[in-house]
Amino acid sequence: MSDPAGLRVGVLTGGGDCPGLNAVIRAIVRDSERRGSRVVGIREGWRGLVEADTRSLSRDDVSGMIREGGTMLLTSRTNPFRAPKTLERLLENWERLALDALIAIGGEDTLGVAARLHSEYGWPVVGVPKTIDNDVACTELTFGFDTAVSIATEAIDRLQTTAGSHQRLMVVEVMGRHTGWIATWAGLAGGADVICIPERPTSVDEICERLEQRRRAGRGFAILVVAEGAHIRGLGEARSARTDEFGHELLGGVGHELARTVERRTGVEARVTVLGHIQRGGTPTAFDRVLATRYGVYASGLVHEAAFGQMAALKAGTIVSVSLEEAVAETKAVPLELYELSEVFFG
Ligand code: F6P
Repeated sequence: MSDPAGLRVGVLTGGGDCPGLNAVIRAIVRDSERRGSRVVGIREGWRGLVEADTRSLSRDDVSGMIREGGTMLLTSRTNPFRAPKTLERLLENWERLALDALIAIGGEDTLGVAARLHSEYGWPVVGVPKTIDNDVACTELTFGFDTAVSIATEAIDRLQTTAGSHQRLMVVEVMGRHTGWIATWAGLAGGADVICIPERPTSVDEICERLEQRRRAGRGFAILVVAEGAHIRGLGEARSARTDEFGHELLGGVGHELARTVERRTGVEARVTVLGHIQRGGTPTAFDRVLATRYGVYASGLVHEAAFGQMAALKAGTIVSVSLEEAVAETKAVPLELYELSEVFFG
């Protein structure tokens, strides 16, 4: 198909930030300019469309951005479908801005809005999957995940030496919302002795038994990696009253409760490290820079081929397009085989 040059392409980043967002923006700008199109940056995710808050983006603006963490367009968890008035303003501004296409870079929530705007309102939308959680379906990897895993792995490596010196249990709480991708990968890479993830519910009894086996084998210290959304029988179901505009609960805190409970049960001194937003900050790894760049150029290609309602995805090492609607229909869970592989190294 020939390129309809001279398009006005809107770009936004929504949801939690992650390393690689600027690399995607840069790639979209560079590829669009090469094709004779102009890029309009929309500030703070969907809020920027509700408020018509935009900025132009040129090659000079994105120079050097491949290595920068965060997002130069800012981000928010604004849900334009939350109130009729907000949706009305979004639709009005869409007309006013006269964009020929929109590239939405985000996770399940941002892409879910993009999919609805395409299917219900016919918007010319293309998606790019981002999130440290790696839970977007129809793609093997989201950018940001590799960086988060590298940060968590480095933290586990450092905790191994201090845990060994003091013969302590180190509980490391990592992000991932309702999936355990970061916990499984970082736990495997860091040689964790127990990993708890939402996809594989466990109990305090089972965890203590694993630690006891390890102690009997002559190892007095242990690393326990727990995903923030893990389900562990025997712990109180502490639920946060704080939710975002998409109804997601603010997670965090399971690590402290687990450490307290296991220390009481086993008598082994425990300490907790909650990695939190450190996993999302700073520069992207080389892998994420390349993946983000490939996604950005591919998404620009989809726009210029008028292949809307699609998302750039990674399949068997190749970037392909998949249906946005399918990608947001469910989240991608850690496969049981991968978790079972990590279990080989428990205890
Ligand atoms: O989705 C990315 C993520 O970092 C999750 O892992 C985490 O639960 C959530 O965002 C934290 O959100 P916030 O930045 O609003 O605290």
